[in-house]
Amino acid sequence: MLTRRPRRLRITPALRSMVRENQVAVTDLIYPLFVSERIASRVPVGSMPGVFQYTVEEAAMEALAAWKEGIQSVLLFGIPAEKDEQAQQAYAGEGIVQRAVRAIKKAAPQMIVITDVCLCEYMSHGHCGIAEIEGDHVHVLNDASLELLARAAVSHAAAGADIVAPSDMMDGRVSAIRAALDEAGFENTAILSYAAKFASAFYGPFRDAAESAPQAGDRRSYQMDPANALEALREVALDIEEAADMVMVKPGLPYLDILWRVKERFEMPTAVYHVSGEYAMVKAAAANGWVDERGTTLEVMLAFKRAGADLIVTYAARDVAKWLRGG
Ligand code: PBG
Repeated sequence: MLTRRPRRLRITPALRSMVRENQVAVTDLIYPLFVSERIASRVPVGSMPGVFQYTVEEAAMEALAAWKEGIQSVLLFGIPAEKDEQAQQAYAGEGIVQRAVRAIKKAAPQMIVITDVCLCEYMSHGHCGIAEIEGDHVHVLNDASLELLARAAVSHAAAGADIVAPSDMMDGRVSAIRAALDEAGFENTAILSYAAKFASAFYGPFRDAAESAPQAGDRRSYQMDPANALEALREVALDIEEAADMVMVKPGLPYLDILWRVKERFEMPTAVYHVSGEYAMVKAAAANGWVDERGTTLEVMLAFKRAGADLIVTYAARDVAKWLRGG
């Protein structure tokens, strides 16, 4: 006779839920929104079914709809009408993100508004910092870029952002942003740092959505090499020293090992970014009838929780919220 029978606790749904170790809550979700100054009404993103570029007014309505479904936070990306070599619209008082923050706060005052702080969408060359470009050779200037990132973060805080999320991967950006926020009187604006962000092929669809693909070269001189895990821990340690309030690992599913190590080691509020390519893969396979969209997406969300994520940035947030409600 077998005495050890793990299956005893799997017999009924109630037993299974009694011993379940992890679950996804709607409050774990962060919903990214693309806000564009170049459109008159929403435009679907071809490589990301269900994702749109919105006008400011539409973004506010979308945020409100998400809020009513229990989603407590949005992450904003801006697509400006004008791009230049100083990313001026990234820190313009009336810039697209700054206007969107104010509109969302008006429509859904309790919504936690997080802004992506990066320059790539605002730079004519599409790099995440000030760049010197000679043919294929791109040199992204670190320290000169910090000042612009800090100005962008302060302008987001001034518009009412609760949390700023630097995603550029320049060295020292968290300190620079913290100092600038404090100096401007925004000591309560938190920083969610994209601390371990890899140079990933999974960002492809996002660059369509945000119109931010680099015109020359790639991002490997600032985003991390996908081969490196220990370096990711050093990056996260630095950002925490520099006063990051929360840290993020990005992408998600191919980097669960990094997520796990970061949470184990630092015990910080930890976010994971379920990136555009991960979202697009499930959408494409589901559209072909090859995987079940609800089942695969919820399993991915659960995997993030199991690996240590407190927060999940996902384009599927509204679907996940619906499925969690049993829809
Ligand atoms: C901006 C930024 C990117 C993403 C988030 N912020 C693109 C990039 O680094 O090229 C990617 C998000 C996604 O793929 O969903 N730097």
